[in-house]
Amino acid sequence: PLVRTAELVTAARDTGRAVVAFNVITLEHAEAIAAGAERAGAPAILQISENAVKFHGGDVGPLAAATAAVAAASGARLALHLDHVESPDLLRAAHAHGFGSVMFDASKRGYGENVKATAEAVRWGHERGIWVEAELGRVGGKADEPPLDAHAPGVRTDPAEAAAYVADTGVDALAVAVGSTHAMTTRTAALDHTLITALREAVPVPLVLHGSSGVPDGELRRAVAAGMTKINVGTALNTAFTGAVRAFLEAHPSTTDPRRYLVPAREAMTGAVEGFLRAVAG
Ligand code: G3H
Ligand code: ZN
Repeated sequence: PLVRTAELVTAARDTGRAVVAFNVITLEHAEAIAAGAERAGAPAILQISENAVKFHGGDVGPLAAATAAVAAASGARLALHLDHVESPDLLRAAHAHGFGSVMFDASKRGYGENVKATAEAVRWGHERGIWVEAELGRVGGKADEPPLDAHAPGVRTDPAEAAAYVADTGVDALAVAVGSTHAMTTRTAALDHTLITALREAVPVPLVLHGSSGVPDGELRRAVAAGMTKINVGTALNTAFTGAVRAFLEAHPSTTDPRRYLVPAREAMTGAVEGFLRAVAG
């Protein structure tokens, strides 16, 4: 069934677990996430990023409707979330398209501008019953971004600044930069567990880890034990999907029907989803 993000995050936090949020780009992603969640017996969040909306021509409607329908038909408890929203127009589309939650991303702006824009997004969301996540610090690594120095000032999230940010914006959850980077295709990231614990103590709302594809299972489990409540995974699904497509087409170069390679590709994504859920949401 389709449930609300706030419900899943609150339940995870109350039981010392995490909920995993997976990025949806195509219908097959949504189907794989639902199947993986059913296999693992765990809830999950289906999230659509602003970049995925751009890929589909700028209208969030069709992919949101398909994803919500997959969630509604599933035996797993699945929520619909709009991810990394920078455009105020897309933010305003969230409500009309059935999203119970949004990540509003002003993390590229300076502290003052980030607070101002995010506080406005939170006010807008809360008037409509929408749960709002925002980011302080820079996870970085997205395709349109220059590389970041993970140790430069303002890149890792500062606990005192994070406490002020949450108080000043009223956000429901905070995405923090603690050593992970977006778009990693190997699971080799090391997290700053001391910083996670300090943030957990300083910040009253649930913490969100972005760029979790590059984080090994053991590191993820430690992060959850230290108080990370939402774990965002995108690239790992694409690594599994594209690897399966490549292997299939190498073995069967004359294929034309996309269903021939989408079946193993969707199955590979389902396995990746199940693996992340068993590692951190069980
Ligand atoms: O918001 C989405 C996540 O942070 C996904 O990051 O693609 O590196 O797993 P990832
Ligand atoms: Zn992210």
